[in-house]
Amino acid sequence: MSRATHLLNQLKAKILDRTAVVGVVGLGYVGLPFAVEKAKVGFQVIGIEQNPWRAERVNLTDNYIHDVDDNELATVVKAGLLKAVTGFENVSSIDVLVICVPTPLSKNMTPDLSFVESVTREIARGLRSGQLITLESTTYPGTTDEVIRPALEASGLRQGQDFFLAHSPERVDPGNQRYTTKNTNKVVGASDPASLEIATLFYQQTIDHVVPVSSAKAAELVKVFENTFRAVNIALVNELAMLCDRMNLNVWEVLDAANTKPFGIMPFYPGPGVGGHCIPIDPHYLEWKAKEFNFETHFIALAGEINRRMPEFVRDKALRALNQLGVAPSKAKVLIMGVAYKKDLGDWRESPSIHIIQNLRRDLVSLDYHDPFVPVIKVQGQEMHSINLETVAIHQYDLVIIATDHSTIDYTQLVEQSKAVLDTRGVTRQLPDAQDTTFQSKVTLL
Ligand SMILES: NC(=O)c1ccc[n+]([C@@H]2O[C@H](COP(=O)([O-])OP(=O)(O)OC[C@H]3O[C@@H](n4cnc5c(N)ncnc54)[C@H](O)[C@@H]3O)[C@@H](O)[C@H]2O)c1
Repeated sequence: MSRATHLLNQLKAKILDRTAVVGVVGLGYVGLPFAVEKAKVGFQVIGIEQNPWRAERVNLTDNYIHDVDDNELATVVKAGLLKAVTGFENVSSIDVLVICVPTPLSKNMTPDLSFVESVTREIARGLRSGQLITLESTTYPGTTDEVIRPALEASGLRQGQDFFLAHSPERVDPGNQRYTTKNTNKVVGASDPASLEIATLFYQQTIDHVVPVSSAKAAELVKVFENTFRAVNIALVNELAMLCDRMNLNVWEVLDAANTKPFGIMPFYPGPGVGGHCIPIDPHYLEWKAKEFNFETHFIALAGEINRRMPEFVRDKALRALNQLGVAPSKAKVLIMGVAYKKDLGDWRESPSIHIIQNLRRDLVSLDYHDPFVPVIKVQGQEMHSINLETVAIHQYDLVIIATDHSTIDYTQLVEQSKAVLDTRGVTRQLPDAQDTTFQSKVTLL
């Protein structure tokens, strides 16, 4: 039996009898749910999290990620199955290392792999034979083979012979109650058969259906394509919304009717722009990589441009609504309802609400915001605190802009108490009073 086969069999046995120690690097929206899932089935999990506040919260069983169940976190931590640390001292004692760190864009819209690179360097220092390393972070095709592999092989060990390396993109949809880490199919790719086999086995322990593909690059492209698909379709309906505005048509009515077709269409809805760590960022990783092949990804560029234009479109509609009320922007008070990029979440990274606030500040509009999930934000260095709807009168605002459709808000009451509402999410369309003329005279849809 070759040494590589021996190492593979050893790790397989450890995975199957749950004696493999799992290290999860980065305990954020992706890493913490993943760490809890692995600990729940009996693996010893070490979370390596550079933020001491987060590491401490985990060890104190104080949950900070919405998708993680408080009781499940407490159970695995108290059972000694999950422990968070802030450094990489224990790397060589870990059998499987899963990298879940951020992959943002630089200011010039190019991939910023600094988190992945720094973690890989740390892992390379403690790398030993028989380990599996997987990358979960979303990135361009080639990162695993061209960035991570050489950095790990600088240790003198070889992929597929001494250690195993794979990419398995996380597909979690924060806030989705139906599809969780466990029942969302998981794609795995690696550039040598042993790495693919062991990574597939590892993921099968906690995920119902694992989909192996022939290379790490293919797995990387699967994920960026999925997010590009969303970005392009959202841009398409956003563009339709801007056209309908010019044509004085109701985009929501048009989409509702189009979506009654039982085939050949998928529902996508317009909004104030795209936010979060995925849709505004990931497609541009692919756009950047494509240039290396002298290839322009026109759909990605166009979708990014249209989606980034949306907060400016919201600003234009807000100014029009204020004008109709006879209020000059510099005298206007506007309330932004929701700053999270998505409903029922506290994540405001890349949120369109922030761009709407910046845009309206340029017009000297006086702004407040309310978000039950986000108590504080910082915009252009200035801190803003969520106002308390119990103590602040909605009627004092000239306009309320519904930027996030959190389900905890009573929209009927909100419209009743407002002078005017700009609804960028179409949430007021479903209200019982939606056909009422007073209601309709107050509410402008995107
Ligand atoms: N959030 C999502 O919905 C989602 C979904 C699918 C994929 N992804 C991808 O997963 C990756 C992680 O995203 P996230 O949303 O979990 O990010 P996050 O910011 O919530 O979490 C990343 C964590 O990594 C930690 N970290 C950074 N550098 C570190 C280091 N050197 N050592 C240890 N810890 C370090 C950070 O402190 C943070 O806690 C990204 O590539 C993202 O695109 C995210």
